[in-house]
Amino acid sequence: MRCEIIQDDCEQFLKQASSEGFDLTFLDPPFNQGKEYNIHNDEMVASDYWDWMKGVCKLIYDNTSDGGAIYFMQREKNTQFVLETLQSTGWTFQNLIIWRKKTSAVPCEARFGKHYQIIVFATKGKTPRVFNKLRIDPPLLVTEKYERPKGMYVTDVWDDIRELTSGYFAGDEPLRLNNGERLHKQQSPVQLLTRIILSSSNVSDMIFDPFAGTGTTLVVAKQLQRNSLGIEIDPLNVSFIEDRLYKEGESDNILKYRPDYFFTENLDDIWPLYTNNINKKIEEKYRLKLKKYEIKNVQKQLQVLEKQKEYLINKTKIES
Ligand SMILES: C[S@@+](CC[C@H](N)C(=O)[O-])C[C@H]1O[C@@H](n2cnc3c(N)ncnc32)[C@H](O)[C@@H]1O
Repeated sequence: MRCEIIQDDCEQFLKQASSEGFDLTFLDPPFNQGKEYNIHNDEMVASDYWDWMKGVCKLIYDNTSDGGAIYFMQREKNTQFVLETLQSTGWTFQNLIIWRKKTSAVPCEARFGKHYQIIVFATKGKTPRVFNKLRIDPPLLVTEKYERPKGMYVTDVWDDIRELTSGYFAGDEPLRLNNGERLHKQQSPVQLLTRIILSSSNVSDMIFDPFAGTGTTLVVAKQLQRNSLGIEIDPLNVSFIEDRLYKEGESDNILKYRPDYFFTENLDDIWPLYTNNINKKIEEKYRLKLKKYEIKNVQKQLQVLEKQKEYLINKTKIES
């Protein structure tokens, strides 16, 4: 299985790449909002920035397999530019995903506070080569009376994934420098990449991340037994990525999110267990937890069926 990080400028890398055959790309570039990067000017003239993005998107498109997918993450205020960039470089629009933040909204003076980020899902050609319909089982709304016997399909609003915002304690997942400061303010959560990779790829597919940052895409792809390639311009980040991939830390382990997808029909195919020796020890640790969850869900389904039975018996009594 390939899991490679290359220190380079992604555009330069892609220009000399020859038909890499990416099946899925996660594109999370600097947002051009004046953030501090060691090797990147995040205050480009807007038109130059979007020309750059178009160049990158076109090169990725040329290196993508038929039906392959791209997930382009950006600030919500740039939605129209993201859509235009993807369309003009050949991609076919599939979804505008709203990633709703868990932390409080960014307050605004004379408009509504901002509470989400966008992720545009697009494909090479009309039909995705892979789209796994994931099922989740979020807590019931007050208006919902009955437990869902089989959960529900994931929609285009993702409000169940916590961001790693610096303003509050985000656990051990964010990478830190020796002085305790965060290495990277834009680190994506492994939970987000788990959803994207499960939805739009199968085992052994090729996953690409041109702006690898802290290597989240690679960390998740490896656990899901997909091949992966990341490009990152900053050598400091690259050394952290290498270390992160080697250590396979507890906080990066995605098995804790597996129960969220319990009701997904083909879960064992797209997320195989006990086949990857590297993860075997950690898998053992979670096995018991997963079993308990499985039992709880079967009990829940039985309760729902019992209620349906009661309802039908009462209805028949009333009618007769
Ligand atoms: C928004 S961050 C990506 C964060 C990533 N998703 C993660 O989970 O850590 C963007 C990254 O792109 C890198 N970068 C900026 N310009 C680049 C270029 N021309 N080629 C490759 N990487 C670049 C930055 O150093 C930064 O780490």
